[in-house]
Amino acid sequence: MLQIGLIGYGTVGSGVYERLSTTSKHIEQLLGEEIKIVGILVKDRQKKRALDVDAVVTTNWEEFCQIGQYDIIFEAIGGIEPAFSYTAEWLQRGIPVITANKKLVAEKGSILEKMAEEQSTYYGYEAAVAGGIPIINALKGTLMTTSISRVAGILNGTTNYMLTEMIENQRSFTDVLIEAQQLGYAEADPTDDIEGYDAWYKIRILSHLCFGEWPTEETFSRKGVSEIEDWHVEIGERFGFKIKLIGEACVSKSEVKGRVTPAFLTLTEPLANVRGVMNGITLEGKSINELLFIGPGAGKEATSNSMVEDFIFHERVKSVNRTTNLDVEEEKETIAHALLF
Ligand code: NDP
Ligand code: HSE
Repeated sequence: MLQIGLIGYGTVGSGVYERLSTTSKHIEQLLGEEIKIVGILVKDRQKKRALDVDAVVTTNWEEFCQIGQYDIIFEAIGGIEPAFSYTAEWLQRGIPVITANKKLVAEKGSILEKMAEEQSTYYGYEAAVAGGIPIINALKGTLMTTSISRVAGILNGTTNYMLTEMIENQRSFTDVLIEAQQLGYAEADPTDDIEGYDAWYKIRILSHLCFGEWPTEETFSRKGVSEIEDWHVEIGERFGFKIKLIGEACVSKSEVKGRVTPAFLTLTEPLANVRGVMNGITLEGKSINELLFIGPGAGKEATSNSMVEDFIFHERVKSVNRTTNLDVEEEKETIAHALLF
């Protein structure tokens, strides 16, 4: 029997629990083994929650570690600490960890991936970028050796939802932010969404997969939707542009560069028509021309689906590493969109 540990039982963690529970028969058929969630770690002892789970729930890390002989851990608490220490502990024991924590992956992914490699285990972060879009395992799998010259996308569901509602339906910033929080799209601290940090973590992860090295903070600039002013919206409306928060990375003179910034997009650009909580990612390269991925970028179902698929992918296929290099067949000197800044 595969014993599962769940760190975090909020929007995403509870989604993972529900998805594993409702599809357990199918998963067990695929894996040829029974699965059981044995332990759940949460933070707030006082929190009122409707918990109807068949697992031990604790707020104590030591107790959580001893509940079972875990075969796999799902981390859905977010942030750097204690998520980093918890993840490191399991990877060092050779136990695979599946995460949705893009901040941790962007900031500590190089260490954690190395740890996983040394212990011949798996650090899976499919759900950390663009929620329901299976971009990570596409890059590691079916596009393993495809040369990519540029990656760009709408990588934050909360702000794309907000921009859509504010511009198309004239709703207020505060109203739509509250709604995005209620829908479970926003980060625990929505500053990460509004100031572009969330998209910045994600484009750095994509850049690592497309171009090899984990990029340093200094080579990736960041501006959020908080910098969009009324006159930007007026100009967009007058000239028929859509305003989107774009993250992009490309190789220029053998150096990887990237940024997150609001940008004007003409209506003919595919990303211009990605609305609401949807995310969109384009990959460009000589042999693929342009690949476009569109799908839900946030939310309980899409994200937990990605985490569970990541787990099954690992169990069935075991991990593969993308072959990356900076010798792209075609360099992208310029960034394509009309940037607001
Ligand atoms: P929530 O705030 O809804 O849930 C967080 C959970 O983690 C809660 O159960 C909380 O416990 C628990 N937790 C927090 N800190 C600790 C700690 N120190 N020790 C133990 N448990 C802790 O967040 P989300 O589910 O929305 O997000 C979780 C992760 O998933 C984040 O990394 C986020 O960026 C990522 N993500 C979220 C998406 C979304 O659409 N929401 C989409 C893609 C990724 P308690 O219940 O006691 O408060
Ligand atoms: N807050 C994030 C977003 C969650 O809105 O995109 C998904 O990573």
